[in-house]
Amino acid sequence: MRKLTPELLDHLPHDDPGALRSRADLRRINFFMGNERWIASMIPAGTRHITEIGAGDGHLLSHLACEFPQAEITAYDLAPRPAHLPLSVKWMQGDLFSQAPPAHGGTLIANLFLHHFSDTQLRDLGEWMRGFDTLVINEPLRARLPLLLGKLATPFVHPITRHDMRVSIEAGFRHGELPAALGLDHLVQECVSWRGSLRIFAQRTNQSANLCSIY
Ligand SMILES: C[S@@+](CC[C@H](N)C(=O)[O-])C[C@H]1O[C@@H](n2cnc3c(N)ncnc32)[C@H](O)[C@@H]1O
Repeated sequence: MRKLTPELLDHLPHDDPGALRSRADLRRINFFMGNERWIASMIPAGTRHITEIGAGDGHLLSHLACEFPQAEITAYDLAPRPAHLPLSVKWMQGDLFSQAPPAHGGTLIANLFLHHFSDTQLRDLGEWMRGFDTLVINEPLRARLPLLLGKLATPFVHPITRHDMRVSIEAGFRHGELPAALGLDHLVQECVSWRGSLRIFAQRTNQSANLCSIY
């Protein structure tokens, strides 16, 4: 069963030195897990709108702004707009639950974000996502191996990351749980990676995708 414990990073000022160190750890963790490479590889070519929820330090969107120059990109996060973010990216600061989704649809991406929320909140987020044509979601897999990998990483990460990594995995998902909690009516494909990611690619149209690629 999922265990929801508050994450330390969510309750620190964005410029707290520990928060800055933990965000740098998160970039390394994303790199090791191949999360951002996988998300970028799943975005349909020619997509006109990309929206990221829980965009964090904007690292992924900075890359996507170069890779998809034709796309209008919008980000949602509690944190203020990151200084380095390309001006073309629209940044919506605040609680996602009190903001409306963009009217234009397109591709929605979420990386290490949805595990923060209870099943009731996930049902609301599923409604929030209803207007998007494509969903690309990467979340922690709730399993023993990711917990063990997290323990092995302990000497190399900040104490805030150490705490948040464990509680993120405990709040993560097993196969089938997330599409059901969101109540998605898209066509859903789901896979897991041994490094601890649970990945969802969901579309309104039935296009085949090589979901479990090398990332
Ligand atoms: C674990 S971080 C992941 C950030 C980024 N996706 C990454 O992989 O580096 C989760 C992010 O969700 C944001 N967040 C948490 N609750 C939120 C909410 N209710 N509304 C908007 N953003 C939220 C936090 O500010 C944080 O940046």
